[in-house]
Amino acid sequence: MKFFLDTASLEEIAAATSWGALAGVTTNPSLYARVGGRLQDFHEHIQRICALVPGPVSAEVTAEDTDTMVVQGRELAALASNVVVKVPLTAAGLAATRALTNEGIAINMTLCFSVPQALLAARAGARYVSPFVGRFDDISEDGLEQLANIVNAISNFDFSDCGPNGQSVEVIAASIRNPNHVTQAALIGADIATVPFDVLKKCVEHPLTTKGLRAFEKDWEKVKQA
Ligand code: G3P
Repeated sequence: MKFFLDTASLEEIAAATSWGALAGVTTNPSLYARVGGRLQDFHEHIQRICALVPGPVSAEVTAEDTDTMVVQGRELAALASNVVVKVPLTAAGLAATRALTNEGIAINMTLCFSVPQALLAARAGARYVSPFVGRFDDISEDGLEQLANIVNAISNFDFSDCGPNGQSVEVIAASIRNPNHVTQAALIGADIATVPFDVLKKCVEHPLTTKGLRAFEKDWEKVKQA
């Protein structure tokens, strides 16, 4: 499983990139608002992220009708070679995905909550489909079970004739809220988990790692004084 960072923060992206394990970034309008983003700076901000990340960067359209999604998608795709256009999983979004895919633009279909939605995204040519785990948990449903169903259903079929360049769809486990979501997404076989920076930090840390380090430090003091 690959790790994407789910953020629009340049500082978080720079830090996670330095750890050497980051394969991409996903953003959305809420994440851009969270870093104090302004409309007039949006495209430049996406370009800055793209320059920092050695992999795909999802940037989301904000329109809800197909024609405007396609216009916004073309604008976003022109910003950098590693932009992936994020499109919501609606009927209008499916039509925009097919149109943009036909132009060779990579699409991440977001706000996916069901197997049929995921299959339709794959058939429309999406390069990535993003089931949301945590938002199911928020409404007392099992987000990991839904993710497992989607990963299993997608793995039953060949979608390589649907997207550009024969590339098949990859499942991004999104709305990840804790390290257990990361563990379970990997065991389920999600291709990618897109993880907020605070969760990624928790994934690195383990109390036994810290305890072991303190013991090594203490014993090394004894060695130095022997
Ligand atoms: O990529 C978007 C998705 O991860 C959102 O997560 O925590 O807002 O449900 P969340």
